[in-house]
Amino acid sequence: MTSIAVIGPGAIGGTVAAWLAQDATLDVMVCARTPFDDLRIETPNGVITAKPEVLLDPAKAKVVDWVLVTTKTYDVDSTKPWLDRLVGGKTRVAIVQNGVEQVRLFQHLVPAERLLPVVINLPAVRTSPGRIAYGRRGVIAVPAGPDGEDFVALFAKTEIAAAAYADFVSQAWIKLCGNCISVVPALTLRATGPVWSEDLEAIVRGLVEECAAVGRAEGAVISQAVVEDAVNNSRNMAEGSKGGSLHADRLAGNRMEVDARNGVIVRLGEKLGIPTPMNRVLVTLLAASGSPWVAGS
Ligand SMILES: NC(=O)c1ccc[n+]([C@@H]2O[C@H](COP(=O)([O-])OP(=O)(O)OC[C@H]3O[C@@H](n4cnc5c(N)ncnc54)[C@H](OP(=O)(O)O)[C@@H]3O)[C@@H](O)[C@H]2O)c1
Repeated sequence: MTSIAVIGPGAIGGTVAAWLAQDATLDVMVCARTPFDDLRIETPNGVITAKPEVLLDPAKAKVVDWVLVTTKTYDVDSTKPWLDRLVGGKTRVAIVQNGVEQVRLFQHLVPAERLLPVVINLPAVRTSPGRIAYGRRGVIAVPAGPDGEDFVALFAKTEIAAAAYADFVSQAWIKLCGNCISVVPALTLRATGPVWSEDLEAIVRGLVEECAAVGRAEGAVISQAVVEDAVNNSRNMAEGSKGGSLHADRLAGNRMEVDARNGVIVRLGEKLGIPTPMNRVLVTLLAASGSPWVAGS
């Protein structure tokens, strides 16, 4: 029996935990901040349910084979009490978060060689604790190698398509090329499609081009088609649709993962000597909006 603890059973963690719990060879528990009794997930192919053990107190946690961290990126340090109890000599820790810094964010808590960065594409919404819905089949990417292959094998009996990539860096940066646009609707509080203009396109294109330039300097292979796809998705964003989780989090009064989405492009751009004026301006404007949820994110 392989033991798995999911720290942060929100939209992504709850979905992943529920899918893994369908496999009788996996012993899945969740480490939560807010209690719930069971998981009920509306998937594209129907509802799945699961009743994993829900731990609320790190003192009750024991060493497991795998830890999956699925908190938001600004909650990294709050996972320390869990990690201290769950990670033993052979535990591997998968960081299932957006961005390109999964390992950097956790290497002060867990030795880097134990960490596995995970990119997930699975647009999920949590309506209440333990209640989640998503409308498109999930896809997971991890780096190739023994840990990546073992992680992929955990998903064999799920409807989440997991795969290991020799060029994982490109996978992470390609996703960021789409995600970095979310700062625009987070500022304007509306979808980009209905208010599309040449000037708005220049802003969106600037964000993505800068992300692609920094990503390429970091070793990612990012074709121009990736940039055009991201711009087109923004052009086609329909009235009323949420412009990504930054937008949704700002509307809900939550903190936002601005640093993991756009701050990182500015920081790495600075280090690499690549100008990132569009990302810098929009991050600065969001911070200057006085939103308490930007601070420390
Ligand atoms: N949702 C998506 O569609 C999606 C898609 C791809 C990638 N991602 C990425 O996946 C990551 C998770 O996003 P999400 O949407 O799943 O966020 P979420 O719904 O807000 O879930 C995060 C969960 O972490 C819990 N948490 C935070 N600190 C904790 C701690 N110290 N101990 C235990 N639980 C803790 C939260 O507890 P509470 O219940 O108390 O809030 C919440 O349940 C983010 O990096 C996001 O960018 C999300």
